[in-house]
Amino acid sequence: MSDVIRLGVAGATGYAGQELIRLAARHSGVTVTTAMASGTTDVVRTLPSLVRVWDGEITALSVDRLAAETDAVFMTLPDRVAAEVGPALVARGVRVFDLSGAFRLRDRAQRRRWYPATPDLDAPAVYGLTEHYRAALPEARLVACPGCYPTAAVLALRPLVDAGLLEGDIVIDAKSGISGAGKTPSERTHFSECHGSVAAYSIFEHRHAAEIEQELERAVTFTPHLVPLDRGILETIYVRVRSTVSETMVATTLEQAYADAPFVRLTGDALPEIKHVTHTNFCDIGWRMDTPSRRLILITCLDNLVKGAAGQALQNLNVAFGLDETTGLS
Ligand SMILES: NC(=O)c1ccc[n+]([C@@H]2O[C@H](COP(=O)([O-])OP(=O)(O)OC[C@H]3O[C@@H](n4cnc5c(N)ncnc54)[C@H](OP(=O)(O)O)[C@@H]3O)[C@@H](O)[C@H]2O)c1
Repeated sequence: MSDVIRLGVAGATGYAGQELIRLAARHSGVTVTTAMASGTTDVVRTLPSLVRVWDGEITALSVDRLAAETDAVFMTLPDRVAAEVGPALVARGVRVFDLSGAFRLRDRAQRRRWYPATPDLDAPAVYGLTEHYRAALPEARLVACPGCYPTAAVLALRPLVDAGLLEGDIVIDAKSGISGAGKTPSERTHFSECHGSVAAYSIFEHRHAAEIEQELERAVTFTPHLVPLDRGILETIYVRVRSTVSETMVATTLEQAYADAPFVRLTGDALPEIKHVTHTNFCDIGWRMDTPSRRLILITCLDNLVKGAAGQALQNLNVAFGLDETTGLS
């Protein structure tokens, strides 16, 4: 095997797949050898938006070809397709980075509820929130990259939960640009429905709530909204701290957790904005605390297609293959 990692992208014509190819094309340690989509015939497709960035061909999905031509595959596929393709690739010795939700939930009952097509595996996937699972990545065969909403929420909350600083309810008010729903328009996501409007959706029914609760080991109230942006997520998180907790303790806990995390930017009381993170792999986290009432409000934001999808997947590959974590991402 040469030093350059041969990559496959399954789902290359989608939003996350195209973002991955764009990032991989300027990554010095990888080459995209194989890109596939849903075709069932020999008709070859190209990506007009990536001309002169990556001029390869998109062919029909084939596990045999991915196994023969690649060292690692990014699956940017619908959950039910990833559920089938992922284990087949792992069985053929390919390292798999799955961007779908198929393998994120470790609890079998939760997985059956939210991802019924996912089979039980002998070895569970490594949850690919790089900053918190870095040590497990070099041995991982299957990496379940986190959802976009959970990435922002868990990065902000997990250090505070782990340090025992919080009590009471956690309320996550989340807003996402429309590309979070993928490229196929629906009545909810097409332009004339979204433009000029903001709408809540999937209250108590969004599967990302289960993922956030898994990673925090706490119940959360999670309300997602669609906002008329093409990309970006911003979450406003309402919590209460314990009576002994100061604002300095909050800041120190987050600073210690992310001292060696190149893609987490702690902005303190300079509150993050979506326009500061789009087209980057950063997750920005800011906060304000009202000491008398013990209320802490965290603002966290990222680009759903980069840190919430393709960028984080590439960050995981870098760590898994022993490359510098920032290669191709800074
Ligand atoms: N969008 C986000 O912000 C985001 C963030 C994190 C994770 N994710 C997850 O990443 C995955 C991809 O998301 P996306 O937004 O990129 O979706 P998308 O824009 O809808 O793209 C889906 C891709 O999968 C391919 N595909 C669909 N059915 C297939 C089949 N039966 N066999 C082979 N290929 C098939 C499509 O190919 P065709 O062009 O041929 O249809 C397309 O390339 C999803 O599981 C999603 O939940 C998305």
